Amino acid sequence: MTDMTGIPLRSDLLGEEPYGAPQLDVPVCLNVNENPYAPSPEVVETITARIAEIAPTLNRYPDREHTALREALATYLKRETGVQLAVENLWAANGSNEIMLQIFQAFGGPGRTALSFAPTYSMYPEYARDTFTAWQTVPRRSDFTVDVQAGIDAIARVKPSIVLLTSPNNPTGTPISVQDIERIAAACAELPVEGAPGAHPVLVVDEAYAEFRAEGTPSAHTLIARYPLVAVSRTLSKAFAFAGARVGYVASSRAVIDALRIVRMPYHLSALTQAAALAALEHTEGQLSQVAHLRATREETASWLRSQGLEVAASDSNFLLFGRFADCHAVFEGMLARGVLIREVGPEGYLRVCMGTDEEMTVFRNALSAVVEELE
Ligand SMILES: Cc1ncc(COP(=O)(O)O)c(C=O)c1O
Repeated sequence: MTDMTGIPLRSDLLGEEPYGAPQLDVPVCLNVNENPYAPSPEVVETITARIAEIAPTLNRYPDREHTALREALATYLKRETGVQLAVENLWAANGSNEIMLQIFQAFGGPGRTALSFAPTYSMYPEYARDTFTAWQTVPRRSDFTVDVQAGIDAIARVKPSIVLLTSPNNPTGTPISVQDIERIAAACAELPVEGAPGAHPVLVVDEAYAEFRAEGTPSAHTLIARYPLVAVSRTLSKAFAFAGARVGYVASSRAVIDALRIVRMPYHLSALTQAAALAALEHTEGQLSQVAHLRATREETASWLRSQGLEVAASDSNFLLFGRFADCHAVFEGMLARGVLIREVGPEGYLRVCMGTDEEMTVFRNALSAVVEELE
């Protein structure tokens, strides 16, 4: 870490390291839950054409309200969830990371608490830290499912302003049913927020991986019309195969969206991002064309891992948490030495791998077999 002596860094940030998964130049990268299939030449062509169209206008700021993109996202969500939302119910930003930060900026802050269910996505405590919001977690059960009653009891006790539910959860892959989410939403609608008389907690459902869920499973979007404080966050980074463009979005009541509009940076979503996202959304079918295959890859990989005597958490996402290993780091290093980057994240003894192409998964299996044998 750089010597920060004489730099007026906030005292609560002293000693903190920048967080992020390793970005290494290795042949097989299975560590950040991307879709491994690149955009088709047709998508590349449309993106290039749309960027060429707007390039002569880049002296102007972009549409601050990104209305065309919100319209396209409404069309996408209608197709994916069956729920029709209006532009006023949608908001996009640079990845769902930025969406979450805006949520914390609008609804967190000093004297407030955000509550989630651990283990979960490791960025959440960073948004809390950066917005001076206290962070508390309720432990998940040993199979990583959420104990709904324990969650409701904790919400009543802690009085958070934000409750964060991740479905499917990262790093475990665990889904939570819409019925269980509704029980928590109904409780939130009645329960108080510390220091905010008359207010109730915002229930954020992070559905970053939702397109990988079992077919026919309803999304939390079905709750938005009845629960105005439910906000469902999604991203184009995962199933939609568009991580490099940095586009995330949230659906909620108009009041919640308008609160985010207060804290957003002016013109936060560049004209290039908006144009590229609109172009990709024109090719929704193609962008999602590998999702069913990745689901099948997940099931095959889970069976294979179990056949090797390993434990695998039930997953509705494009990754698997598997273990347990006495020395996870040795397994991680052994895999890296064989050109396969996986992730050391989550509960002790477990590693996480995301689904790659068929060729990549063959390399993964061969490498893991060799590493396990070597360590025996
Ligand atoms: C649960 C969850 N939410 C949100 C994100 C952020 O994704 P992005 O900022 O690329 O939309 C991730 C990324 O890994 C994630 O795992």
